Amino acid sequence: MIEKTLSIIKPDAVERNLIGTIVGRFEKEGFKVVAMKLQRLTKDDAKDFYIEHKARPFYNSLVEYMTSGPVVLMVLQRENAIAKNREVMGATNPAQALPGTIRKEYALSLEKNSVHGSDSAASAAREVEFFFPELVRGC
Ligand code: CMP
Repeated sequence: MIEKTLSIIKPDAVERNLIGTIVGRFEKEGFKVVAMKLQRLTKDDAKDFYIEHKARPFYNSLVEYMTSGPVVLMVLQRENAIAKNREVMGATNPAQALPGTIRKEYALSLEKNSVHGSDSAASAAREVEFFFPELVRGC
């Protein structure tokens, strides 16, 4: 099934000039970039986006980090995009990510893990609409 998923190139990767490398990696894996913008998230954006983690001890630090510099927000499309994106990114913790994955190659730490990707169909629907409402509502 052709799916869309939300991908974020996080501040640590943007800061290290890895945008082209990471986008190229996704394109090589057959993803089509169907929407893209460079943006500095506000505190409210980051808090709302990661609201499911509100009770976790890392939440405040995550919000600080995600607003520390610009991010690239993208909608990626391909067959089974949600699962394939997670495979290409690798495990959240780079120490557990498989060789060849983006996080294994580029992440700096569990928090500064270079990329975010939607983890389910429900998350993808919410996250794509969160940053690209025009794609969902067709306006
Ligand atoms: P992400 O896939 O964007 O989802 C939540 C983010 O919180 C995660 O990547 C990391 O950047 C960050 N994070 C920090 N500590 C943890 C943790 N212990 N478990 C999961 N995510 C964490």
